[in-house]
Amino acid sequence: MSKVDVLLGLQWGDEGKGKIVDVLAPKYNVVARFQGGPNAGHTLEFEGVKHVLHQIPSGIFRSHTKNVIGNGVVLDPVVFRQEIEGLAKFKLALRENLFISKKATLILPTHRLLDHAYETAKGENKIGSTLKGIGPTYQDKIGRQGLRVGDILSDNFRERFEKLTEVHFKILRDHNVQFNWNELEKPFMEAIDFLRTFQLIESEYFLNQELRKGSTILAEGAQGSLLDIDFGSYPFVTSSNTVTAGACTGLGIAPRHIGEVFGIFKAYSTRVGSGPFPTELLDEQGELMRKQGNEFGSTTGRPRRCGWIDLPSLKYSIMINGVTQLLMMKADVLSVFSRVKVCTGYKLRDGRETDILPYELVNEKITPIYEEMDGWPGEEIKGEPLPKGLQAYIEFLERELAVPITLISTGPDRSQTIYRQPLFA
Ligand code: GDP
Ligand code: IMO
Ligand code: MG
Repeated sequence: MSKVDVLLGLQWGDEGKGKIVDVLAPKYNVVARFQGGPNAGHTLEFEGVKHVLHQIPSGIFRSHTKNVIGNGVVLDPVVFRQEIEGLAKFKLALRENLFISKKATLILPTHRLLDHAYETAKGENKIGSTLKGIGPTYQDKIGRQGLRVGDILSDNFRERFEKLTEVHFKILRDHNVQFNWNELEKPFMEAIDFLRTFQLIESEYFLNQELRKGSTILAEGAQGSLLDIDFGSYPFVTSSNTVTAGACTGLGIAPRHIGEVFGIFKAYSTRVGSGPFPTELLDEQGELMRKQGNEFGSTTGRPRRCGWIDLPSLKYSIMINGVTQLLMMKADVLSVFSRVKVCTGYKLRDGRETDILPYELVNEKITPIYEEMDGWPGEEIKGEPLPKGLQAYIEFLERELAVPITLISTGPDRSQTIYRQPLFA
């Protein structure tokens, strides 16, 4: 029996998951998304073209790879249709290579409206949600009243849709939300008809059959571990389990079938939306990182908050996920700094120092403790040997994190990838 490898972000999302899934996809028979939805924006770049995928797995450009949208995903049919239509010009075998779980939960137009209403009601304490309806849809799933992809095949789908939207309308009225329902309902129903023409399957059977056949499977995470509903900086998180365990529940894969866990992180840190970010740089250095790294959201276009790398939080993510290999992204972006900093611990409000990610993170100001080292200013990274400063930086991280950094990425293109060690035995 083969294994399911997992690739996921160890920070606050946007680590470069899309790029690496695309790079690794030729090694896999199947790529499967296990959670999240259109809040994700996964960027792939090759042959001078940049693609941003939201719900479709990042293996879609590889013609021999099957792509699965798993049961843990929340799927917006309207966004799905736009994504598929946007891909039409690339002549991909979408109807052959894309499979959607009947157990994935549907995002309705009212979920998006509710997302707006809840965020507005939170005022200053808003999460900074992407407003794609993620939270309210997972709420309905957990509240056992959600609609699922498989439901669109049943005769009473319309009835059930009306029943659920009626519940939503009541809440929206309480929030004084104005909307034109006809303008939202019609494209939704058209998108449902469109979705019906795809391969809607029992994906847990499909994936386990593939495993028995000896196929290789890569589970593609969305968001990042620090946005996980249980382990992230709650309440400033997304509404799903973004960690390795989420691949089991989000795909129907037993824990013993998990193989490699690729933990992907940026050589620095970014965060989009609200919530704690101990190493955030609110000065010109942060501005320079944002400019150099082009740190603007792939889904919302919002500027991303930037700061130095944070080892206590990375160690935490490595622990929760059981990371077996680290992949470091955007090493090129730090090439503008003559000195680079690494956060190795925090000082708490009462003066205590710690190298764990403390519960107090969300409610107290905690101050990072830094180790500073020489950078590799102006040096181009073309392969090994790496610039001396970068080599020292990587070796320092490997020692601290106790997991090998097997790959480094030096630019957005597929080709800008350096293997320090083979990723596969
Ligand atoms: P994801 O959500 O984890 O897939 O990441 P995003 O696509 O949202 O954000 C990553 C951004 O960094 C995208 O614009 C990528 O094209 C870009 N990127 C990926 N790897 C590198 C890299 O090594 N260097 C640089 N400069 N950009 C990169
Ligand atoms: P990818 O897969 C970065 C953030 C939002 C907000 C919080 C909750 O591209 O890495 P939500 O819309 O889920 O209710 O938002 O989570 N967020 C992301 N940040 N990358 C993402 O996905 C994100 N998906 C959600 O900015 O702070
Ligand atoms: Mg992204």
